[in-house]
Amino acid sequence: MEKRVAVLPGDGIGPEVTAAAVRVLEVIARRFNHTFHIEFGAIGGEAIDKFNDPLPEDTIKLCEESDAVLLGAVGGPKWDQNPSALRPEKGLLAIRKKFDLFANLRPVAAVPALLHASPLKEEVAKEVDMMIVRELTSGLYFGQPSRRTEKSAVDSLVYTREEIERIVDKAFELARLRKGKVTSVDKANVLESSKLWREIVEEKKKEYPDIEVEHALVDSCAMKLITNPGAYDVIVTENMFGDILSDEASVITGSLGVMPSASVRSDGFGLYEPVHGSAPEIAGLGLANPAAAILSAAMMLKYSFGMETEAAEIERAVNAVFEEGSFTADLAGPGQRVLSTKEWTDTVINELDVQSVSDSIMLSYV
Ligand code: NAD
Ligand code: IPM
Ligand code: MN
Repeated sequence: MEKRVAVLPGDGIGPEVTAAAVRVLEVIARRFNHTFHIEFGAIGGEAIDKFNDPLPEDTIKLCEESDAVLLGAVGGPKWDQNPSALRPEKGLLAIRKKFDLFANLRPVAAVPALLHASPLKEEVAKEVDMMIVRELTSGLYFGQPSRRTEKSAVDSLVYTREEIERIVDKAFELARLRKGKVTSVDKANVLESSKLWREIVEEKKKEYPDIEVEHALVDSCAMKLITNPGAYDVIVTENMFGDILSDEASVITGSLGVMPSASVRSDGFGLYEPVHGSAPEIAGLGLANPAAAILSAAMMLKYSFGMETEAAEIERAVNAVFEEGSFTADLAGPGQRVLSTKEWTDTVINELDVQSVSDSIMLSYV
């Protein structure tokens, strides 16, 4: 297959972790006879510095001409005092909205070789296998009015029926391919938007009689994510709740540095990025874990290109490297050797190449 991929490295550790993901894509292309045309674009703080715009027109055009987008992260202290329109985060919100990427899929699953790094007891963490489905193009992040004066500030939590219906449908469809359970998270004891959300889930569940549905209030869900995370399959929730709950859930399995995400719409186009941010305090030091970016590239292969085997091969290689005890600083236990971002990526590349050699031995044997 031939695919065009726009790579937007962004700020902080973004360039380091996307470079690692691109190296992995190159190996996959070679092994599976694909051609990935990879082109780089600016977003976030880098784009503000170069073009005075967190999402320049050229970047939008590049993404429009691509089959998928791979993004690193945006933001950092350098731009924290900028006015809202010139904040790096604005570029990220704008690209999500521009391309209507309403469904943000954030998988969280226990990896046996990482359980040592989980702050939870092993018997609790090992049960985790959930998919957080976060609505990404509406809610508090985009609602109007949104304004600031000397004396007050306003943000609005607005949802339309259509916006809720399409994300809830997505959650039900995903649950059908998984364990068949949807937990819809809201604050229906207080918020009007949540009351509408809950009503729509109740209506929609009639179309999916095979799916078990439960409603949870976001505050107690945040608690149960720690006490009984194994109870969840698909969690569906609005933009802001999903942002917070997914960072919380990510640490259960070891580190924010291994959490990938996909932001998709219905036609297969998607933007793939780690759940983590630009981690400015470790940028450039070789301390970043590139696993989240590499696994985001795997999600791109699976969800946008239908390359299930290739995606599974990346996941296998990453897990094999964890199994052999190779870790970056965020995951290494006491006394364990710490690999730099590049060394750890080399190990994954090596694992993919070793498999490639054994594939060709199999072929010549046959
Ligand atoms: P963060 O996710 O950047 O970092 C949180 C903590 O996790 C830090 O201790 C960091 O060192 C660590 N960490 C994150 N990714 C890691 C990795 N791959 N390997 C090892 N350790 C890792 O969140 P923050 O510090 O709250 O935010 C920093 C900046 O990133 C802010 O400007 C914020 O707006 C931005 N941000 C961007 C995105 C994005 O682009 N998608 C997401 C979250 C935050
Ligand atoms: C994320 C980030 C972003 C969000 C920020 C950087 C705008 O935290 O992708 O989770 O809140 O969506
Ligand atoms: Mn976040």
